[in-house]
Amino acid sequence: MSRSRLFTPITLRNVTARNRIVISPMCQYSADDGVANDWHLVHLGKFAQGGAGIVMTEAVAVSAAGRITHGDLGLWNDGQIAPLKRIAAFLRANGAVPAIQLAHAGRKASMQRPWFGNAALTAQDIARGDKPWAIVAPSAIAMDDGWLMPHELTVPELQGLREDWRRATLRAVEAGFDVLEVHCAHGYLLHEFLSPLSNKRSDAYGGDRAGRMTFPLEIITTVRAAWPSERPLFVRISAVDGVEGGLDMADTLAFVGEAKARGVDVIDCSSGGLMGSATAARIPRGYGFQVPFAEQVRRDAEIATMAVGLILHPQQAEALVVEGKADLVAIGREALFDPNWPLHAELALADTKGEIGDGTFDSWPQQYGWWLERREPGLRKLDGPALPYRKA
Ligand SMILES: Cc1cc2nc3c(=O)[nH]c(=O)nc-3n(C[C@H](O)[C@H](O)[C@H](O)COP(=O)(O)O)c2cc1C
Repeated sequence: MSRSRLFTPITLRNVTARNRIVISPMCQYSADDGVANDWHLVHLGKFAQGGAGIVMTEAVAVSAAGRITHGDLGLWNDGQIAPLKRIAAFLRANGAVPAIQLAHAGRKASMQRPWFGNAALTAQDIARGDKPWAIVAPSAIAMDDGWLMPHELTVPELQGLREDWRRATLRAVEAGFDVLEVHCAHGYLLHEFLSPLSNKRSDAYGGDRAGRMTFPLEIITTVRAAWPSERPLFVRISAVDGVEGGLDMADTLAFVGEAKARGVDVIDCSSGGLMGSATAARIPRGYGFQVPFAEQVRRDAEIATMAVGLILHPQQAEALVVEGKADLVAIGREALFDPNWPLHAELALADTKGEIGDGTFDSWPQQYGWWLERREPGLRKLDGPALPYRKA
């Protein structure tokens, strides 16, 4: 099958992905004490079987206090490495680049699992065993009414956090990941430093834009130094806060320029999350609503970008890479709906060119493809309604 642009391999530093599709980081709230289990293996593993170029873990906390919920994955101790190593090896063995997102939740730590309410922990959560813990942030400003009040981080505590990020990065190397993403978005700790609405510090880590960028850039420098130079480093940003007085594109372009100078390879362009529990809660949503951020960052900061957010259709994903709006396309919830989204997208794009034929299932795991290829000629002779991805 001839390759579309979406299905053209991409090389970043020494790492090559078979196509431009990334499974977006998605918390499963299903870990115990930060340790990955069979759920995480199967959840992530099926996306590798489903043809994605890069499969990224959920936000993995660099410290226990940096978890969003009790169910988050973590890499704050060595005992958490082995199950993640198994997952990374499975992803690689099934053709995907294993990627990990590292994170600290800041003032959005110690929350409920979404299906229990997606807000601050309640007496019912505590009765289930999920006790609140002390949370930290650049400034003592709570996320919202009824949320925990964070402790304002001291300068020595920031040093401790840099060490947490460094050690977690080394553990991610040990676990065998080939891409690392620093989570600087969605109202979590590093985003809280960047935004003037959550960072009211008067020391070197606050104040003007340069001051507010200081700590996130220190983390990027720390991670880059611990992460092998032949492996790419991504940073996920909230390109805009979408709230009066919050981050705008000028802030973002300044930050991206500094991140690029420190060895970041890809900017993953999300938005929002600073003032509401839902991601991008106050940004109007339509298909590909965050693509313009990826496009502007790519053009103005001259760095590779990843687009994310309501990218559902294969032609939509293909067009945005063909038109140079992004280098990578992240698929989130649509991959939950269809873990084989990349394999199906490849068929759909080929079908528009009328190229379904011999070798159609070459990209599929051979355990499946061998059978599907041989079923195809017989299917074409059957009467009945047209099936997706097949010509009559
Ligand atoms: C269940 C779930 C968990 C998520 N967890 C994370 C996460 O750990 N880190 C992150 O940066 N974004 C997270 N997100 C946001 C997604 O990565 C993605 O940016 C968002 O869902 C929009 O893309 P979509 O429209 O393709 O789903 C999560 C989204 C969902 C639905």
